[in-house]
Amino acid sequence: MKANITVIPGDGIGPEVTAQAKKALLAVADTFDHTFLFKEAAMGACAIDATGNPLPEETLSLCRAGDAILFGAIGDPKYDNDPNAKVRPEQGLLRLRKELGLFCNVRPVKAYDALIENSPLKRERIEGTDISIYRELTGGIYFGIKELSDDGKIAFDGCSYTVEEIERIAHLAFQAAQQRRKKLTLVDKANVLETSRLWRKTVTALAGNYPDVQVDFLFVDNAAMQLILQPNQFDVILTENLFGDIISDEASVIGGSIGLLASASVGKENALFEPIHGSFPQAKGKDIANPLASILSAAMLLQHLGLEKEAAVVERAVEKSIELGITTEDLNKENPFSTSKVGDFIADYIQNQEDTDLNFQNIHMGQSTII
Ligand code: IPM
Ligand code: MG
Repeated sequence: MKANITVIPGDGIGPEVTAQAKKALLAVADTFDHTFLFKEAAMGACAIDATGNPLPEETLSLCRAGDAILFGAIGDPKYDNDPNAKVRPEQGLLRLRKELGLFCNVRPVKAYDALIENSPLKRERIEGTDISIYRELTGGIYFGIKELSDDGKIAFDGCSYTVEEIERIAHLAFQAAQQRRKKLTLVDKANVLETSRLWRKTVTALAGNYPDVQVDFLFVDNAAMQLILQPNQFDVILTENLFGDIISDEASVIGGSIGLLASASVGKENALFEPIHGSFPQAKGKDIANPLASILSAAMLLQHLGLEKEAAVVERAVEKSIELGITTEDLNKENPFSTSKVGDFIADYIQNQEDTDLNFQNIHMGQSTII
C-alpha cells in the first residue's frame, strides 16, 4: 500500500518520540513492502515562534490532503505560565481537531504484566486491566462560548452538547464494546449537569440497538475513585470531552507510566494519532523520553489504514522491549536506554522477527550490533 502521512512533531519531546515512531513505520514499510510518504508540518509553540500562528494554513491543508496524521506533543512553559497570553500553542491542536472533525478520541489503557511492579497501585488491583476510553473530542466546554468581563473579574465557559454529537461517538463506543468484553460505562455528572442528563438519555435510547452490550452509568467523581480501586472492572468507557481528558490522564498511571498511552482521534475524513503524554519540556533534547506511546500511536495508525498484521507486529515489538527492559528511565531506573536506542530496537525487531532470540541474548550480554 501507498500512504501519505503528515507528521507534526510539535513541541518539547514531540520531535524525539515522533522520530522513533517514524522509524517503526519505515521498518514496517520495508518489511511488508509498503510505501509511506512523510510530509512534515508545524503546529504549537514552534509554529507560533516561526509564524505567529499555532496552526498555519499550510499545516491544515497538508493534514486534510494526507491519509493519516502522526502528531508528537504540544505546549511550552513560556505560555503555560502566562495566563494573559492571547495566542497559545494548544489552540493549534484544538483548532485542528475541530477543523478536521476529529470527534472520537480512543485511548487504550493496559496493564502490562512485565510492568506491574512499576505501577503505584497494588498488583491485585490492576492485574488484567484493559480499558478503551472513548472521549468526545470536538464539543463540550472545550469549544463553548468563552467570556471574560470587561473588568476581568468574571469568567465564563459554556458547555453544550447536541444529541447528534453524542450519538455519533456512542455508536462507535458500542461497536467497540461488541468487539471486546461487551460492557460500556457512561461516565457523566447527571446528578448536576443538564448536558450529562442528555448524554444519559441519548445513550439509554441507543442501547436497544446493542442488546449484547451491558450498559452502566457512573458519576465522574465515583469513576475517578473506581479507576484506582478496581480498574479491571471497566471495558469501554464513554465520556464527554473534559471528563475524558481528566480520567484518561488518571488511568494512564495504572500501567506504570504515562509514556505508554497512545491515542487515535478519528473523524469522518481524517484521523490523527498521538501519545497522550504532554510535551515534557524538562526532558526536551535529552534523548530520555519514552517513545513507546508514540510508537503505539503509529500502530493505531496502521490499524486505521487497515494494516492489522503490521500493527500487531509493532505492538509485539513494544511488548518485547518492555519484557526485556529495553526501555527509558521512567520504566527502567537501573539500566535505562535512550529514546533513540529504544526506537532502534523496535525498528530492528520489526525487521528481524525471525532471529529474535539470538539477538535478544546478545543484547542482554551487551554484544548486539543494534544497541
Ligand atoms: C490531551 C491534552 C489536550 C486536551 C491539551 C494539550 C489541549 O491534554 O490531548 O489530553 O486537553 O485535550
Ligand atoms: Mg489531556
